[in-house]
Amino acid sequence: MTDTAKMWIERARAGIEQLGIPELQKTGILPEAGKKFFPVIGYPPLTMFRDMDQDTLFKDFERRPVSPTIAYIHIPFCPSRCTFCHWITKTKSPEEAVDEYLHYLDQEMAIYKRNMGMDAIPARSVLVGGGTPTYLNAAQMERFMKSIHNHFDLTTCTQFSVEAEPGTLLGEDGAAKLKVMKEHGVDRISMGVQSFDDDVLRYMGRVHTRAEAIAAVDAIHDAGIHNVMIDLIYAYPNQTVESWVENLLTAASLNVAGWQLYRLRVKQHGDRQGRILKVMNREPDRFPSVEETLLMKYLGITMSEELGYGEHQTRIFAKNKDEISHYLRDWCCALTDVVGVGVSSWSNLRGVFSLNVGDHDLQKYYDYIRQGKVSVNRGKIRDRDDELRRSFILPLKNMTVSKKFYKARTGVDVNDVFGEQLVWFKEHDLIAENQDSIWLTKRGRFFADEVSTQFFNPDYLPFPEVLLHTAPLAAV
Ligand SMILES: C[S@@+](CC[C@H](N)C(=O)[O-])C[C@H]1O[C@@H](n2cnc3c(N)ncnc32)[C@H](O)[C@@H]1O
Ligand code: SF4
Repeated sequence: MTDTAKMWIERARAGIEQLGIPELQKTGILPEAGKKFFPVIGYPPLTMFRDMDQDTLFKDFERRPVSPTIAYIHIPFCPSRCTFCHWITKTKSPEEAVDEYLHYLDQEMAIYKRNMGMDAIPARSVLVGGGTPTYLNAAQMERFMKSIHNHFDLTTCTQFSVEAEPGTLLGEDGAAKLKVMKEHGVDRISMGVQSFDDDVLRYMGRVHTRAEAIAAVDAIHDAGIHNVMIDLIYAYPNQTVESWVENLLTAASLNVAGWQLYRLRVKQHGDRQGRILKVMNREPDRFPSVEETLLMKYLGITMSEELGYGEHQTRIFAKNKDEISHYLRDWCCALTDVVGVGVSSWSNLRGVFSLNVGDHDLQKYYDYIRQGKVSVNRGKIRDRDDELRRSFILPLKNMTVSKKFYKARTGVDVNDVFGEQLVWFKEHDLIAENQDSIWLTKRGRFFADEVSTQFFNPDYLPFPEVLLHTAPLAAV
């Protein structure tokens, strides 16, 4: 072990003691003492969505309250199928298959526009995700970018972000597609690096190396796109605490704006189970222990901060706060509406959540669009309880709850709804409050998912083992 890694690990071991994890384990808020976790990315969670179609999504649309809107567009193609990944993707698709998808995607954007009664949908931020959007070749990228500009009005858009896989950005092809993206206003690339360790990358089923990931960062800058953020995963099989420290040091040595850190999720959260569950069932000992996982998390937070990358949104670290994903910020903190286009995307339009068909061979997706419909097949109309909780849970988990914002959204004071519930969390140094805001303390932020899950409707809990320290909501 290098002296530097040793120094960081020793400091982290001392620091993590201060969080009093054994005491929290006894309270029952950490399912299976922290072994299980549930990433809170939306509320109500997708597990609560039921069958629904576009008639419900667009019913009385023009009479429902208007919100600022952001756009998410899903590209389900990838150069390989990574062992850990649960997203809807297809690998090694031929050019014609991608062309076909782009055709239907364009149609679906037009159908959204028509149902929303708009010539172009104003998008305050855009995220193109996947899958791997940069699997498209330059000509396809040009066509796709034109579709977006055709159907969305980006005049007030504050960020146009695209997810990428390193290998797809290299060489002449890579430079050509980056040039097209830059010309069409893409100003941020979020690149899945996952690890800088070649052995771990191979084991993950990635088809790029550490050197290629580093070269891709330079290729993005060469194309004139200077906001480059990377994704890294911790608690992967065969990963050691030391190698995680080396990963973070490598990330900080590159010309990147920052990174998003993901704890490995073994169970699916959507329509597809990744192969990683089989690995877990077959070889559980290859996975880092709960103690090692929490130490990696602690190192991720403290090293990022000490190396100059602030945690501007939970587990999203950047030198400059404006470089983080505006899409995620708008979705989680401003609670904007979302138009989600493409297979497996979700939307949030004027009080109704919807989820598109999670169809990995794409044929069901195409069927919807051939019938002139958006591909929605599940969703949820939010009720008052959902709204009161969502307006608290998502800002709490991700940043801070502004009391003024809460009142403006819900018409009631946050303390009238959650005042009593907060007492236990304040006593346990998990939540703090002043006149204007409510936020997670250092201890609370470390367990941001677990603490925010405590404010879920008891019927929506992801695990039966979660012991709630909250009472029913006050009637307001
Ligand atoms: C939708 S993926 C797109 C990134 C891009 N396709 C790539 O992998 O190069 C977004 C990020 O989610 C994270 N992710 C995907 N599956 C995960 C899992 N099972 N556990 C933790 N993080 C995961 C990865 O870090 C990934 O980069
Ligand atoms: S992690 Fe990225 S490249 Fe790998 S299968 Fe998932 S979406 Fe595709």
